[in-house]
Amino acid sequence: DRNIKIAPSILSADFANFGKEIETIEAQGCDWVHVDVMDGHFVPNLTFGPPLCAAIRPHIKTVMDVHLMIEPVDPLVEAFAQAGSDIITIHREASPHIHRSLQAIRATGAKAGLALNPGTGLDDVKYLLDMVDLVCIMTVNPGFGGQKFIHSQIEKIRELRSMIGDRPIHIEIDGGVTSETAPLVAEAGADVLVAGSAIFNGGSVDQADIYGHNIRAI
Ligand code: DX5
Ligand code: ZN
Repeated sequence: DRNIKIAPSILSADFANFGKEIETIEAQGCDWVHVDVMDGHFVPNLTFGPPLCAAIRPHIKTVMDVHLMIEPVDPLVEAFAQAGSDIITIHREASPHIHRSLQAIRATGAKAGLALNPGTGLDDVKYLLDMVDLVCIMTVNPGFGGQKFIHSQIEKIRELRSMIGDRPIHIEIDGGVTSETAPLVAEAGADVLVAGSAIFNGGSVDQADIYGHNIRAI
């Protein structure tokens, strides 16, 4: 059985109480803390920058998993690494020289992630498998929490799992993960599940039932 990791997205947390919110999800057994960085340009929403990441970093005992939905990305990679990111994930669609951008992330010592929008195919990953520690399959169009899961992506997850073989690359799923969709993506080959609204908005994700995790709706 694959070891499934849970990465709550603090996009749906109480923004006035990040320290407390992180303490709660870590006490409940989350594996990573997912931070959604949006720029109001690549995606139609604005969230956090490097100073916020640096401010919450001391509160995170696990892994700070930073998802950059920004374009251009290269000028800010170093700042997010300095802020203490363990994993920096960038979008295929946001960087024309994606190979160089991934190299730049690894050069900081952070792990490199590559995210694909729902409309982007796996051809764009094929020649980058030695450059990534994580591939994030977006199961919503990025920009907002609480959107509906896009089922056509399940086939993409399955194909990616077979493409990866036994390479040590995480398959992360981001968007619309609930107690209903989590088993579907896990079965298709995912091993890291991001969940925002399902965890923070009193939803129904009870990982104790699904994966032996202890996260319950807050
Ligand atoms: C979407 C973000 C997600 C988002 C997921 O652009 O990348 O991480 O917070 O939220 P839910 O789980 O509510 O779909
Ligand atoms: Zn995300």
